[in-house]
Amino acid sequence: MSKTYSVSVVGPGALGCLFAGKLAKAGVRVHLIDYQQERIHRLAKNGIEIIEGDQSEKYNVHVTGHIPSMQDLIIILVKSYCTANLTLPPDIPILTLQNGLGNVETLCKKTGAENLLAGITTEASTLLEEGKVLHTASGITLFGSWTTASIKEPKELLERAGFRVETTNSPSQVIWEKTAVNAGINPLTAILNVPNGMLLKIREARELLRELVIEASKVAGTEGYRFSRSLVEVAEEVCENTANNISSMLQDIRAGKRTEIDAISGEIVRRGTSTFLTTPRTKMVYQIIRSMEQRAII
Ligand code: PAF
Repeated sequence: MSKTYSVSVVGPGALGCLFAGKLAKAGVRVHLIDYQQERIHRLAKNGIEIIEGDQSEKYNVHVTGHIPSMQDLIIILVKSYCTANLTLPPDIPILTLQNGLGNVETLCKKTGAENLLAGITTEASTLLEEGKVLHTASGITLFGSWTTASIKEPKELLERAGFRVETTNSPSQVIWEKTAVNAGINPLTAILNVPNGMLLKIREARELLRELVIEASKVAGTEGYRFSRSLVEVAEEVCENTANNISSMLQDIRAGKRTEIDAISGEIVRRGTSTFLTTPRTKMVYQIIRSMEQRAII
């Protein structure tokens, strides 16, 4: 008899619901972890719905407030500003696919580096309402072992759920690469209130996109990272391939929620400052997004 795998997905946002639903469909016992008691009840009652093209399917996952023991894998998909508040059981492989810089370092302090796997996903999904996700485009989930955790089983589990998975020997490089792209696309789309593709159509926005990605790449350079191709080209390609997407930051701003600007542009500004590298455009978009967040709550 083949083993039934247990996976906890932490965070009921667009990507958390997508990963939880697809793993459940593949026969994995899934716990979706949330910290809001009332939402837990609603999600447990209503289940997770994933819409792909004109197909819509519902999945029943266990929704709870804490990660059960005896899990084969924990996937972290909470917003970066929640990472420091997570309570994680020991000795279970943990895969973070979160946005921004600094998540892995925070998780290392909590659980030790030996259980950690880290990377990114380019799966595109939009949370239409609580537990209801529109899977707008399939992407790649790319991760590697932070130190000694095995990638074999997590890779097989995600592949079984239908995700395209690639592995890397340098997860921190991959995270930097995605962060530099996000540092251009996310604040600009959120400030201009436009889908990703529009950044290529407005000459000045495209210029700013380039300048923001160049600032981020320079900071990555001070940490020893070198990229095999221009991240400006990568960012422009992402805008083209996700032209109709509403970036996660714009989704947050529209919903009046806190954004991940701190782990993206904020972290780039801080890391730049620590090596006397100024990042004036990144600092300005950081200040604008922080102002927009506060405007929503004042
Ligand atoms: O954060 C996002 O929305 C995505 O990472 C990206 C690549 C900008 C596409 O929308």
